[in-house]
Amino acid sequence: MRSIDEHDYHFEEWLTPQEIARDVEQVAERIRDDYKDKEPLFVVVLNGAFVFAADLIRALNNIRCEVTFIRVSSYWGMSSTGQLNFIVPLQQVVENRDVVIVEDIVDSGLTVHQLKAHLRGLGAASVTVASMLFKPNKLEYDDAKPDYIGHEISDEFVIGYGLDFDGFHRNLDAIYKVKNNNLTA
Ligand code: IMP
Repeated sequence: MRSIDEHDYHFEEWLTPQEIARDVEQVAERIRDDYKDKEPLFVVVLNGAFVFAADLIRALNNIRCEVTFIRVSSYWGMSSTGQLNFIVPLQQVVENRDVVIVEDIVDSGLTVHQLKAHLRGLGAASVTVASMLFKPNKLEYDDAKPDYIGHEISDEFVIGYGLDFDGFHRNLDAIYKVKNNNLTA
């Protein structure tokens, strides 16, 4: 069993590269079915989703699609609805497009909730979400439940396959779960 130690935390391999590949293929199959007669626009949420997106999009080589990137940080302002801060703004027209948001993990769902509202506000014809991981126990925004899920996970913190801990470990080819504490996102 492979493991990583970082800042007093011990991580153990949870999803192997082979298991991840199976999850990605399952997600791709469903997207292929749902979008075979459409021309979806994939909006990849940086930084974490770039690894999943690269695999997913290549698994969809038989559909006609476009790919664009966005980088956001969501934070609570004075209002209860929160705000999206665009670090890398959307550079594509989304009006009348069938948009698929590509995420690494949906945790509270705040990011996806706000992003969906933003894309709908820009006139997207439809907006769905594909996420490699989903933490159902942490979800606070019902509309942020992903339509396409690679794997569900409970509350544990994970790294690898695009997911970071303080900016590091995105390059791991497997997904590792923290083992010795209750570190949460
Ligand atoms: P949300 O807006 O609360 O759903 O947060 C989603 C973002 O939180 C993800 O895109 C990740 O950047 C980060 N995140 C949530 N859980 C984890 C985790 O277990 N490991 C690494 N990052 C996480």
